[in-house]
Formats: sequence, structure tokens, C-alpha cells
Amino acid sequence: MKMIEFTSYETLSAHAADLIAAQVLLKPNAVLGLATGSTPEGTYAELVKKYEAGRLSFADVTTFNLDEYCGIDPTHDQSYRYFMNKHLFSKVNVDMARTHVPSGTADNVEEECARYEQAIAAAGGIDLQLLGLGVNGHIGFNEPADDFPVDTHKVTLHESTIDANSRFFASRDEVPTHAVTMGLGSIMRAKKVLLLAFGDNKVDIVKRAFLGPVTPDVPASVLQLHPDVTVLWGK
Ligand code: GLP
Repeated sequence: MKMIEFTSYETLSAHAADLIAAQVLLKPNAVLGLATGSTPEGTYAELVKKYEAGRLSFADVTTFNLDEYCGIDPTHDQSYRYFMNKHLFSKVNVDMARTHVPSGTADNVEEECARYEQAIAAAGGIDLQLLGLGVNGHIGFNEPADDFPVDTHKVTLHESTIDANSRFFASRDEVPTHAVTMGLGSIMRAKKVLLLAFGDNKVDIVKRAFLGPVTPDVPASVLQLHPDVTVLWGK
């Protein structure tokens, strides 16, 4: 595991974008695992700049997002599909048919989860998985639990996650209580992992996740077992 500390969000974001761009330049048809949350916004803005400058093409890239809220559809401005369209997909030359976000409104959630896993496998697996980090150590929406959930599944969000994400909604009551997320196995199967965590409120959890024991209490700690993880962090 490589941990690189930054003292500004801007330099962290630029570094993350350089790593993702390098992946796409080396393999133009790369499969990228993408993340939402406020942390990767700067990274996406930097990727858009590279595309606009003619230095990066997403024409052959395939993407799979980590997670999606249940019960809000893709037109809702807090859905993760909406977030991705707004911050990246609508601003670069990615083929929208090759962008994937799990559905949070499927009638049969189990079928949707299985379909999502199969789609990732059919695309050849994820070359580079981008991750944020929840203040309770979640990645995607894999919340602290008694064991490590392996495959894409439906979760009940913890109160602390609902609190943390309520800043994006008009009121706390509007935050969905459930989500669909890739499992920790889905994430661990990615060839490379790039995790971003920035801010005073992330320092403790970064240390617990990457310098503490591997435990389902801190889901991100499982990344200590992955052979190719880069953590960009700071405050
Ligand atoms: C949400 C997402 C996570 C993200 C986390 C942290 O819960 N499901 O993928 O990492 O928020 O978000 P932020 O970067 O805004 O702190």
C-alpha cells in the first residue's frame, strides 16, 4: 500500500487525475470503477480539463460506479447517476452506453445486483477503482458490520452515514435509508485501487483503516490485503 499525504485538496485532486489519466493513456479501453461523494469532484474537474485540452480521450473507456441510493431515480439531483452525468460523463467523450451505475429502483434488487456483478465480469473486470472514504470507514456503501460483504448487495445505511450525507439534501428526512453497493469482494477484484480522503474529519479514519487492524468494523481496512492500493490523503 502506498500512502501519499497532501496539504491541499487541489494538489491531491490533480495527482489523482494524473493517475487515472495514465491508466487510460496506457489502456484506452480501460474499465474504470468510479466513486461519488464530494471528495472526487476535484479529480473529475481535472479529468475534464485534460479532455478539453485534447490530452485524454474517454472514447473507449467503460465505467462502473460503486453505488446508488435506493428509492430515488436517476433524474433526482442527489442520485449518483445524476452526479456522474453532471461532473464527468456530460463533459467528456465517454459513450453513455458504456457507463454503468447500479439501479436503486429495480423491482427485483437481488436480480439487479447479480446483473451488475455479471456486467463487470463481462467487461473484463475493473482496471482501476476510485474510492472515497466514509467517516465511519465505509467504501462504496459497505458499512461497518460483523463480516465483509462480498458481492453487490442492498444495504441499510447507518445513522452516521445518513447524517453525513444529509448536507446534500433539503432535509435529513429526505436522505434515502437504503442503497445498492458493490461489495468488498467486487472492489478487491479491481486490479488497482485509488482511494481519496481529504479533510480534518477524515484523518482519524484514514489512520484506523490503513494503520490499524483489518476488521469489518472498518470496511476500508480490507484494502490492506489488496496488492495495488494508493491512498491519497491529507487535511
Ligand atoms: C458516500 C458514498 C461514498 C463516499 C462517501 C464519502 O457515502 N457512498 O462512496 O466515499 O460518501 O463522501 P465525501 O467524499 O463527500 O466525504
